[in-house]
Amino acid sequence: MNIGIIGSGGMGSCLASKFVKLGHIVSIANSRGPASLKKLSEDIGAVATTVEEATKNKKVVIVTIPQKNVKDLPKNLFEHLHEDVVVIDTGNYYPSLRDGVIPALDQSGIDSLWVQQQLGIPVVKVFNSILAESIKDMGRPKGEKNRIALAVSGDDTKSKEVVFKLVEELGFDPFDLGNIAQSWKQQPGSSIYCRDINLEELKKRLDAMGTAWSEMRDLIIAQRKADEELMKVDYPAYLKGLPH
Ligand SMILES: NC(=O)c1ccc[n+]([C@@H]2O[C@H](COP(=O)([O-])OP(=O)(O)OC[C@H]3O[C@@H](n4cnc5c(N)ncnc54)[C@H](OP(=O)(O)O)[C@@H]3O)[C@@H](O)[C@H]2O)c1
Repeated sequence: MNIGIIGSGGMGSCLASKFVKLGHIVSIANSRGPASLKKLSEDIGAVATTVEEATKNKKVVIVTIPQKNVKDLPKNLFEHLHEDVVVIDTGNYYPSLRDGVIPALDQSGIDSLWVQQQLGIPVVKVFNSILAESIKDMGRPKGEKNRIALAVSGDDTKSKEVVFKLVEELGFDPFDLGNIAQSWKQQPGSSIYCRDINLEELKKRLDAMGTAWSEMRDLIIAQRKADEELMKVDYPAYLKGLPH
């Protein structure tokens, strides 16, 4: 499969490396241009490219950049895309830690709803609720008891099916959480966020959250804020403190 990745940081480089190893043809871009990606692309076997080229002739385009930078992507970047192309959003909104307050995002409070409005194209949200290190090291064969399950949300069923296959290939159990309006369940502050839990536990926690964002919003955002404060002072302590 031809995969374009926009963002070459912790998550973008990890996904690129994994997908190359799985036999996919991967192009990777960042904000500084292909020359800055020479070493990384050679090391992992990906093609260093521009942001625009990363969207051309691809089956899947992964946007994996900080939320604050989404507005800096070229306008109409996705305008030419064929309707079969799947656009993945791995992003998380951390207003206090990294992104600054984005008032338009705060209106709904649903990170990927805002991203898809900005990009002007439906997105599938996945890989936001697992650390790159876990993607790198914790993939397991299907059927293994503690195989990690990953939430996937999006409005387009066919796009999600493509994503489920990629998640499987990486060694994780995909779980269809619902449409993008429900994707708050996999945002920072939720009980499934970066917990490395299996499918049974994931379903249990999703059920416990119910379906009403209006009822869960204050709780999840308060938890995200507390996590941001901890991450600012001691990131390893934050990771260690995540209850599994
Ligand atoms: N790392 C993780 O474990 C992890 C886990 C789950 C979710 N996420 C989420 O995934 C996203 C990416 O995280 P990360 O950890 O990979 O971030 P990161 O290490 O800070 O890397 C960010 C990348 O985005 C690129 N970028 C920024 N603005 C851009 C633009 N306008 N055009 C093209 N590329 C641009 C940067 O390129 P330059 O360096 O050239 O500016 C850089 O390659 C974030 O929303 C994060 O919350 C990360």
